[in-house]
Amino acid sequence: MEPADFYTGIVAESYAPLKSFSPDPETYAALVHETGPPALELGCGDGDPLLALRRRGLDVEGVDSSADMLARCRRRADEAGITVTLHHQRMEALDLPRRFRAIFLAGPTFNLLPDDSAATAALQGIRRHLVDGGSALIPLHIPSPGLTDRIGEVRTAIADDGAELRFSLVSEERNETLRTQTSLLRYERHTQDASTVVERPWLLHWYTPSGFEALAAAAGLTTVSVTDADGNAAKSDADFTVFRLQRR
Ligand SMILES: C[S@@+](CC[C@H](N)C(=O)[O-])C[C@H]1O[C@@H](n2cnc3c(N)ncnc32)[C@H](O)[C@@H]1O
Repeated sequence: MEPADFYTGIVAESYAPLKSFSPDPETYAALVHETGPPALELGCGDGDPLLALRRRGLDVEGVDSSADMLARCRRRADEAGITVTLHHQRMEALDLPRRFRAIFLAGPTFNLLPDDSAATAALQGIRRHLVDGGSALIPLHIPSPGLTDRIGEVRTAIADDGAELRFSLVSEERNETLRTQTSLLRYERHTQDASTVVERPWLLHWYTPSGFEALAAAAGLTTVSVTDADGNAAKSDADFTVFRLQRR
């Protein structure tokens, strides 16, 4: 399975019931107000914060590599009476008929790209889809090693149809040279009649701040700021940063 297909099937079904964090739409609404529309969210998944931005009438479209996540997004939009334009594409092979004043990811989804070459392709695609002077917002995360004490710990939730969903970490491998961490994750779905158990590798690929700035520069994007979760200038050892880039 390709990394871009991780959020399909049982993982897509489990995503909303198991998720512990939702991005604050305010940050992205402020970005779109500042740059002006239109805007594009990469990795929009089942619609957070995309649908909240559409509810405010902002011209924002969404891209995701998972048809299952997009189907959930469409269903939520229909239920809320919101129109939304969604594209089933990978961010590293972006090919849309429009250019945007802002392109953003609403969480460290960029770390799901498995290596620097996929990251470069995504950054080049972002540049191609920005108007001159357009802005990109890319949150990045350096995963902490040693979550191995969590192996076997189970989180549970209830699916839309009442099934019990279970999620746990099976193993974790880290490669400091390739800057990757692969967690084997187990997803389970149990009803009285049937059980499904699926194990999938979840790969995160991280960057040093200077390494990411160099990749962005090579793709024709200038780093305007690197901030932390509170919007302050990020410290050099920060494990969460938000890169603001501009097309030159
Ligand atoms: C952690 S979810 C975030 C979803 C949503 N923005 C939210 O915060 O609830 C990451 C999303 O990125 C999508 N994704 C992963 N790799 C991708 C890629 N290469 N191109 C486009 N989307 C990708 C997944 O399918 C998934 O829906």
